[in-house]
Amino acid sequence: MCGIVGYTGFKEANTILIDGLKKLEYRGYDSAGIALQLEGKLKITKAAGSVADLESKMDEGDSEVKVGIGHTRWATHGRPTDENAHPHYSCCEKFAVIHNGIIENHQALRQWLKEETGHEFRSETDTEVLAHLVEEYYKDDLLEAVRNAVARVEGSYAMVVISSHEPERLVCARQDSPLIVGLGEDENFVASDIPALLAHTRKTKILEDGEFASITPEQVEIFDAEGKSIDKEVFEITWDIESAEKGGYEHFMLKEIMEQPAVAKETMRQRIDPANGRVKLDEINLTDEEIQTLDNIYIVACGTAYHAGLLGKAVLEDLAGIPVEVDVASEFRYRRPIFKENQLVIVISQSGETADTLAALRMARQKGVKVLAITNVVGSSVSREADEVLYTWAGPEIAVASTKAYLTQLVALYLVAIYFGELRGYLASEKADELVKGLKELPGQLEQVLSEESLAKLHKYCEHLSKWDNAFFVGRNLDYPVAREGALKLKEISYIHAEAYAAGELKHGPLALIVDGVPVVALITQKAVYDKTLSNIQEVNARGGAVFAITMEGNDDVAEQVESVFYLPPVNDVLAPVLAAVPTQLIAYYTALARGSSVDKPRNLAKSVTVE
Ligand code: G6P
Repeated sequence: MCGIVGYTGFKEANTILIDGLKKLEYRGYDSAGIALQLEGKLKITKAAGSVADLESKMDEGDSEVKVGIGHTRWATHGRPTDENAHPHYSCCEKFAVIHNGIIENHQALRQWLKEETGHEFRSETDTEVLAHLVEEYYKDDLLEAVRNAVARVEGSYAMVVISSHEPERLVCARQDSPLIVGLGEDENFVASDIPALLAHTRKTKILEDGEFASITPEQVEIFDAEGKSIDKEVFEITWDIESAEKGGYEHFMLKEIMEQPAVAKETMRQRIDPANGRVKLDEINLTDEEIQTLDNIYIVACGTAYHAGLLGKAVLEDLAGIPVEVDVASEFRYRRPIFKENQLVIVISQSGETADTLAALRMARQKGVKVLAITNVVGSSVSREADEVLYTWAGPEIAVASTKAYLTQLVALYLVAIYFGELRGYLASEKADELVKGLKELPGQLEQVLSEESLAKLHKYCEHLSKWDNAFFVGRNLDYPVAREGALKLKEISYIHAEAYAAGELKHGPLALIVDGVPVVALITQKAVYDKTLSNIQEVNARGGAVFAITMEGNDDVAEQVESVFYLPPVNDVLAPVLAAVPTQLIAYYTALARGSSVDKPRNLAKSVTVE
């Protein structure tokens, strides 16, 4: 995710900014840049690559400077290049902007700025419109210009602006993306994340959505959305650097699990038309006819992304009426798949660099089949080589075991299924409306699932689970792919051998292994197969298995059958996997903790597998 650092004071700004950016490197980024107030002018230095690359481009004279802003970029709009790195100048180069988030209406603003006001653009980014807007609105007060600029903007932002007109001042605005002011003596700071501030101060003021800050070496003023000055309490940070990097959580994995409500929202942003509630995937250039005439889809991926693909099959068949086959990329690439005339291949990859997935993509393209990639990394090999790309906006994922990237893959697949389904006339518009409404409610429901009260319910069962070396995950229908992913998560980080079964298959073998206490996580969210799954739970119960059930609120008869139940808020059955996935992630997490495993870096596993 992008990182922000800003400084105004009496020390060497460039050193403070570079050090601050280095403290944010762990978050992942692909380019970096700095803007400095240098002798009445703004000087911007940028580099694709690392902060060290940026540092090597800085001049000696830069150390004289006392005010500046720095940024690490994780590409969203536009590839990771020098030009697209932040900060961005306005035309007159008297304003420079850094920004985290997404400006949703950037295309309309860009067009307006170009055509109506003659601004010229240097980058492909959404952020650059902010610099031009601030220039456009500037009269004699930077804060006012930023307020007017922001009034034109739809989307999420944490932004910091400097101007050579007001050389000591940093002006900031926040909406849906964190921004923290650090307080010093005759110097002040701003950053997107606490680690960038810790070497200098522990006293902070945390901006809320809709707030603005004006920062000089002597003064920090904070204003609400109406422009009223706010007297904000000072928040003293007690975290050490390691816990600050993890946002106060013990592990990146838990931090990433907790980020899921926000990244689910981010992945839907701009893809649901607020005017009519229809899914719109403007970034996909497949023609309506191509989508309408599709005969078959292959979904190809590895690991967790493959499990997202299994759910993708179910929802694409159900909502869009297209037959779908799913394969792991390492198998697919060495098979001779039979492609239909109107064929699409969907590859799913968090990193966009997995060797087998990339090979499968190339194989399909060589055969003249179009490839749609669902990936999390802009500029990755998969994103560059696919015909079409749909990005998941999960931000960088650091824990090896994938959680938030998986969840956004599911959201992306729902969007594709609804979009295709409506275009093909297969999905009735009332049903599409219902699903879109349900999708929009997911972030709030994920918050509920992640509440402390819910989490407390998991601990006791995980204590039990942690003492076993084998476990089962079972479910039917859409619960089955979730069970597969739940079992993988547990294997990856707790080293317990976990196997997922379609619940109906239990009696064809695994029931022989169910004896007193054997842990069985049962997913039971689908109404159509509710009674059947309940019978399977009874079969396990009768043999002494310790069942942990994940079901919807109101399914009280499940509680009568099992020791432990985790209730999910009411949700459309089709969307239930998004909520049901979360307790399975947490079961893996708490069980791994109880076993003392290395949660973020499990033995023998890598985040990105770029070799066969
Ligand atoms: C590795 C990771 C998994 C991931 C898989 C596919 O095994 O540890 O978490 O699901 O690769 O990675 P991709 O980046 O293609 O989604």
